[in-house]
Amino acid sequence: MPALRITKQGEPVLKKVSQPVDYEAIREKLPALLKDMWATMYAVRGVGLAAPQIGLNIRLSIIDIKPGGKSRPLVLINPKMLSSEGELREEEGCLSLPGIYARIIRASRVRIRALDAEGKPYEMSGEGLLARAFQHEIDHLDGKLFIDHLPFEERLKVMGLIRDLKKTWN
Ligand code: NI
Repeated sequence: MPALRITKQGEPVLKKVSQPVDYEAIREKLPALLKDMWATMYAVRGVGLAAPQIGLNIRLSIIDIKPGGKSRPLVLINPKMLSSEGELREEEGCLSLPGIYARIIRASRVRIRALDAEGKPYEMSGEGLLARAFQHEIDHLDGKLFIDHLPFEERLKVMGLIRDLKKTWN
């Protein structure tokens, strides 16, 4: 299964608010789509990937933070943030901004609701890296990248780095 190209910062698909998924309409295509998304994410050792990162503006993301070194794949269809608490400033990166890392403030604990790959609703709480991944991947579906959370001056610095790095992106 060949990995798909990952869209990069500056491409319009990453700035759009994605459309809700009509599960029944996508049901037949979903297994193949997810297989491609997992292959794409694992090929670059990512811990999350959102549909806009493969060029699709639909509310679908995948996450596998491999807790304790063991794979635990999560599919998030039409995810919603139910609650969030606390604050944590940690380094973050994104497959759509290769080579760029910045410390971003996120809620330290969140609870989400989503549909799984079978279309069944579930709720899940996450702390630490999982909480961060939930927020990062839901942001992608709202057209936001992690650098959008940076204060103005820091964002300017990062934009300079991006200009330099962009030529190396494919
Ligand atoms: Ni990302």
